[in-house]
Amino acid sequence: MFTSIQQDIEDVLIGENEILAKVNEMGQAISKDYKGSCPVIVGVLKGSGPLVADLLRRITIPVTVDFISVSSYGPATRSSGLVRFLKDLDFSIEGRHVLVMEDIIDTGLTLSYILRVLRGRYPASLEVGTLLDKQARRLIDIKLRYRGFDLPDRFVVGYGLDYAQRYRNLPFICALRPEVYS
Ligand code: IMP
Repeated sequence: MFTSIQQDIEDVLIGENEILAKVNEMGQAISKDYKGSCPVIVGVLKGSGPLVADLLRRITIPVTVDFISVSSYGPATRSSGLVRFLKDLDFSIEGRHVLVMEDIIDTGLTLSYILRVLRGRYPASLEVGTLLDKQARRLIDIKLRYRGFDLPDRFVVGYGLDYAQRYRNLPFICALRPEVYS
């Protein structure tokens, strides 16, 4: 499996089973915390696609799901904080309990922009969950309700995360060999 991209991988940081166990835990926590309400899970495309797909199936209370897509300008492996909405939510979130699910939070610039926009739409509550957290690189403080794994300052791909739009299909989180970037 993945033989054609195997040679690009330097090492696997988080394996598939480990990811799925964590997603299961998150799903259970969300089901407990939001019991009695019908939260809106907002996935940030494209990276959080696999996470939201797996997470939804671990949530045992009524939920609705929606996606936004943003693009940040600047170099491929670093966030610039300049964000543009490519796809907005399809429904109003006014009075709803909103949980934004991210694949990864790095500097926090992208997410803080998204949160500012969503907060302006009067949700009943607005919380954030992320599978991966590069906490050491944070430039803006963001309160996380659900947090999967802490990551070192290393560029990673897989389970939705890309480099130049590739590698999103890998079921694990890995680092690429330096030659891939050159
Ligand atoms: P932030 O604005 O610096 O928090 O960056 C957030 C976005 O940058 C994420 O949603 C990813 O699209 C991208 N990103 C940050 N670190 C990585 C990484 O290690 N691999 C792939 N994408 C990343």
